[in-house]
Order: sequence, then C-alpha cells, then structure tokens
Amino acid sequence: MATIIPVASFDCVVFGATGDLTTRKLLPALYYRYKDGQIPGTSRIIGASRSEMSAEAFRERARDALKRFIPARDLDEDKLAAFLDHLDYVAVDGAGDDGWDDLAAKLAERPDQVRPYYLATSPDLYGSICRNLSAHGLIGEKSRVVLEKPIGKDLKSARAINDAVGEVFPEEQIFRIDHYLGKETVQNLLALRFANTIFERLWTADVIDHVQITVGETVGVEGRAGYYDTSGALRDMVQNHLLQLLCLMAMESPLTLDANSVRDEKLKVLRALKPITPRDVQAVTVRGQYSAGAVDGKPVESYRTDLGGETASRTETFVALKLEVQSWRWAGVPFYLRTGKRLPQKLSEIVVQFRASPFSIFPAESFGREPNRLVIRLQPEEGIKLEVMTKDPGPGGMRLRPTNLDISFEETFKQRYPDAYERLLMDVVRGNATLFMRRDEVEVAWAWADSLLKAWADRPEPPRAYPAGSWGPTAAIALIERDGRTWHEEMH
Ligand code: BG6
Repeated sequence: MATIIPVASFDCVVFGATGDLTTRKLLPALYYRYKDGQIPGTSRIIGASRSEMSAEAFRERARDALKRFIPARDLDEDKLAAFLDHLDYVAVDGAGDDGWDDLAAKLAERPDQVRPYYLATSPDLYGSICRNLSAHGLIGEKSRVVLEKPIGKDLKSARAINDAVGEVFPEEQIFRIDHYLGKETVQNLLALRFANTIFERLWTADVIDHVQITVGETVGVEGRAGYYDTSGALRDMVQNHLLQLLCLMAMESPLTLDANSVRDEKLKVLRALKPITPRDVQAVTVRGQYSAGAVDGKPVESYRTDLGGETASRTETFVALKLEVQSWRWAGVPFYLRTGKRLPQKLSEIVVQFRASPFSIFPAESFGREPNRLVIRLQPEEGIKLEVMTKDPGPGGMRLRPTNLDISFEETFKQRYPDAYERLLMDVVRGNATLFMRRDEVEVAWAWADSLLKAWADRPEPPRAYPAGSWGPTAAIALIERDGRTWHEEMH
C-alpha cells in the first residue's frame, strides 16, 4: 500500500451542491480521501446552491448520498461522522446577487486555505459564478476553479465559456475536468508507453496496423434525456473522453510529466487529426440511435421512448469513426473509435493491432500469420493483454494459436481502484493540472467535432437504428470490415 501524503488544508466550495454529480461522485470521492487520511482536519467542503438549507440539512443529504453510493464495507460510522463535520453549506444564487456575502464571510474565517471552486452546475452559470467570485474579492493566488464538462456544445460556445472564466482566472488556475484522465488505467497508459522501452519502439506505422478505441455503455440516457438530446454521443463522449484516449495513445513522449509538457504533446495530436469533410463523412463515420431491445437479458425501450414520447429526434446514441492522425509516426494507421449507449457491455478498451508477419515459414493450416495484439482494458477487469502466437503442445505437427500474456491489475495489485474524481480532486488542491484539459486542447477538439457535426447536419438521413443490446448498427461493422479488419470482440 502506497504512503498517502496529505494535501494542503483547503476550503472547497462546490456549486451545484444538491446536483447529481456532487451526490454521486464528488462527496464519495472526498469521503474516501478523508478516510485514507489525505484531507487535513482543518479542511472544509462548503456546499453552495440556490436552495435554502441549513448546514445540518446538507450534512443529512450527504449522509444519505454516501450510504447510497459507497459500499457498506468501506463505510466506517466514526469516519463518516467525522467527515460530515467538515461539511458546511451556504445558499448562493450563481446567476444573481443573493448569498455571496454569506459565502465571502465564511471563507474569510480561514483566509489562508487553498480554495478550489468546483462548478458542478450547468455551464450557462460558469461565467456569472466567476464574475461574482471576482466581484466579491474571492479569487486569490490559492484559488482554483474546476469546470465540469460539457465545456460548450461547439467551438463558439466553448470559447465564450473560456473567455468568461479567463477574464477572472489565469489559465494555470483553471482545471477543466475530463474524468477519463483521472482513471487509474488511463494514467497507466502513460506508464505503459513511457516507462517501458519495448512498446515505445514498436509504436510506429511500420509495426502497427491499426488502433481501436471502444467505450461501450449498457446504460441508456437515464434521467439526463434533456441534456443528452441536445448533445449526442459525439459531443458527450468523443469530443472529450475518446479523443483524450487517442491523444495518450498517439502522442510523442512529453519532456516531463508537468502539465504543459503533457498538454503540448496532446495538442499536437489533436491538431494532426484529419478533419472529416462532407465528401468522406459517409465512408468514415456511422451514427446510430438505439431502438427497443434487451440489455443483460432485460427488455429496454427505444431512445425515443426514453425521451418521453414519439419525438423524431435525430440525436446519435452511437458513433463509429475511422480517424487519421496526420504525422510521420501515424501516417497510414487508422484509428477506429466507437462508443454508444445501450451496448451489450460496459467496456472501455484500446486495442493495438500489430502488422501480420510479412511471410510465414509455417504450413498454411497452422494459422501462422495471426497478428499480435495488445489489448489495454480500461474498465472493467482492468489489465493488459498481449496476444502472442504459440505452438499448440503435443504431437500433430506445427499448429499455432494465439495465447495471452495477461496482467490483471486486480489480481496483481489486490487493492481498490480509486474513482477518477478522487485523484482529480486532490490534484486540484495540489495545483497539478497534468490530468486536466488546457483551453487550446478543448477548442481544437471542438473545431474538429464541429466540422463533423456540420457534415452530419447536411445529410438527409437520420442516424441508423440499432437494437439495444447490440454493438451498434451493422454499418459500424462494415466500416472496419471494408478495410479487411474486424472489431475486437471475440472474448466479450
Ligand atoms: C460522462 C458522460 O462524461 O461519462 C456520460 O456524460 C457517460 O454520458 C459517462 O455515461 C461515462 O463515464 P464512465 O466513467 O462511467 O465510463
């Protein structure tokens, strides 16, 4: 078990304190960090939202949330009570004037604390909250602002948000969350690539045939239909999470692990992404929308029914893409990406398929030319697998088959995988922005997404239907099979 180094004492103000993200993710993450001794006893977590509520009532809500979202084996009653003592609450109107003096008075009690302002609200409020923080003198050297996604819905709206926040916070104090970057296995990609010489030498177009990135979810749109229908899978997942994974896969070695070195390299990958034009949109993209079907053996409704009626929504709940990174390293190596709701499995993985051997000395019936594959499982069953060809034991000639060199992180490390928000929240307090997105990254990713959204908007056909519980429309299979390749699915 690693030694836990406590962070500096902080007052974290969570705007949107009664919302889903706070209850489901932020409070549990802070509880775990507290329980492990990483949060000093002089720290406070100050909930802020429009609802009038006493601090006691907020603590009660938090207690309920923690009991709901943390497994009983991790909930120690004494620790829970001690953690709740650090919670406080102020009613603040993010868009108006009410409550700001109360918040200022509370923060003035401990002027030397590190002050993360976590904006777990609708992005429409980011600008006004930041202006209010500034107008009330609440921004100092030890303040940071944390922005949840979505940062806009296109380049224009992202710029407007970035401008408004940037008026009062310098870029080094702005922490844009992409929670995929906080996942242990995603950080492990950095370790895999840059702490091992064997892989890095192979990370080129000469050796790699193609890369696949799959992020599948079994859930539908849950209670978020209103947001999701204005977003869709491209904005909700690809513009941020999948492109960030692609960046970590494809980037050159950063000079150091500091925030700007890593982000400079990711930015180069985003800049090298070939824009998808109206001319090739049909050939390299597939959009889908789930129809009724079954997931985990249970019948589920169609997306349109989930929206609450017979609306003729054209929002995509599934995307498959063939992308090109235009650089010396990656020229000619396609990156196939796919993500969707109501797929058969919750599964995130990156598959690096190496080229087949150029020539086989083995007899044709021995299947000697199966290419090697490196499978990086991000969730669940986190681990790394390298498929290598081996000889089938025993007599019968030289028969070959792929076998796995297999590292299961769960079996190897035998410890709980902290949720992404735990790491990210502590990094905010430390002021370490390596795992957060810089303004230029977000905007370049939006510029790329905008050209695809525009190309789609100009097409007459709606997204293709796929039955809930399948791996998307059959066209997604055709997208990769046209190139003589297949999605990695055999062991799922
Ligand atoms: C969020 C998306 O950013 O990521 C959700 O808005 C999605 O639609 C979620 O369900 C997936 O995250 P995870 O950590 O469960 O893979």
